[in-house]
Amino acid sequence: MNAAERIHSVDDARYFAKKRLPASIFQYFEGGSGPSVTSTLNEQAFKEVLLKPLSGVHHPAPDISTSVFGHDIDIPIILSSVGALKIGHQDGELAVTQAASKFGTIQFLSGVSNTSIEETMTHATGPVYQQLYYIGGRDATAPTIERARDAGAAGLVIIADSAAPNTGREIPITKRANLPLQINLKEAVKFLPQVWNKPAWMKDLIMRGGLEIPPVATARSANGQAMPFLEAAGAIYGETPTFEDIPWIREIWDAPIIVKGVVSVESARKAVEYGATGIVVSNHGGNMLDGTIPTLRALPEIIEAVGDDIDVVIDGGIRHGTDVVKAMAMGAKAVSVGRAYVYGLLAAGHEGVVRMLELLTTETASALTWLGKNSIHDIDPESLVIPPHWMTLSLTDLRREIRARNELSDLGLEG
Ligand SMILES: Cc1cc2nc3c(=O)[nH]c(=O)nc-3n(C[C@H](O)[C@H](O)[C@H](O)COP(=O)(O)O)c2cc1C
Repeated sequence: MNAAERIHSVDDARYFAKKRLPASIFQYFEGGSGPSVTSTLNEQAFKEVLLKPLSGVHHPAPDISTSVFGHDIDIPIILSSVGALKIGHQDGELAVTQAASKFGTIQFLSGVSNTSIEETMTHATGPVYQQLYYIGGRDATAPTIERARDAGAAGLVIIADSAAPNTGREIPITKRANLPLQINLKEAVKFLPQVWNKPAWMKDLIMRGGLEIPPVATARSANGQAMPFLEAAGAIYGETPTFEDIPWIREIWDAPIIVKGVVSVESARKAVEYGATGIVVSNHGGNMLDGTIPTLRALPEIIEAVGDDIDVVIDGGIRHGTDVVKAMAMGAKAVSVGRAYVYGLLAAGHEGVVRMLELLTTETASALTWLGKNSIHDIDPESLVIPPHWMTLSLTDLRREIRARNELSDLGLEG
């Protein structure tokens, strides 16, 4: 049995990832800033919404394909931008590109990826979006946009939720593990207890030639070379994209522009006003401001405000096919995932990412079958029980509207 075949859930993948990686590297990917309230609540929100199966109906092979940002995709799951994947597995970002292409979906390539957009596009058969931080400021970003265009990227993702540095995760002092930030004997000796029993990860390290963190291929240093990871990570917050930048980007980019990191109606309306193609309701997987509202709870109001004007995608806490169905029943056009595929990569490389998509798509389809639906487009909030304390006017209105529509349809009076 290969490593990927042992994985039967995101939790399994997380378990094998933790086993394979030095503690500090695993802690980087598990992430969550501060005490990780938001990353925990993102997952919790999906558990709080319950499903109402429709019994006595049989649709054994429901259609889960959809259309978002102008692309027809085979599965409603986008692979989100996660930085520096080669630190965790040498298959890195290309493993994600190949899996996204195999499943006919979209990949967002991180602005701090270890693989360039040029190399990515030589392996992609589906749409790849370049995610942008403003590393080096707005002026240094124009060449990055031009590189994305020349390489054939299908869209840009600008980050709206990274206005201040990630505070780092609060891990109890007894469990906290440090990354070696300098390459010297002292740091190597300190790192030894984390790696002596991690042979698979050590093999990766030897193959990539040593302890140095692989550089960021998306950004370039003054000498034209890929930027060292720590330099790039430090430069993310100097200047960050704002809505006012969208018209400027439009001057040099005529394909989709997605704003990622929206959890308020006000920001969603601004994205529409400034001409974005779509938004991702996201709090960066709980990696930015801790204590931010979980994304699923933010979704209904945003759908009500802008759902007819712009494509709305959601990420944060999606770990099962049932989560995909819940988000889409509440109005999302598609979902995107981070840790769900990253754990698969860390545990088993390319095959691990493929395995996670197999699991998520199979679960999504069977959840629809249980709900008595023949297509992902047939679901709506009537298939859900949403906790009363989440109830907002918007959700009540949504229910009333659906009931009224159903009654008209029963009377044969629908428009
Ligand atoms: C370790 C880690 C690194 C990330 N790096 C990036 C990044 O470089 N760019 C970005 O747009 N989002 C980044 N994200 C956020 C993801 O794109 C996505 O919004 C988030 O992971 C979704 O939550 P989930 O992990 O619960 O699915 C990162 C997330 C994690 C966990």
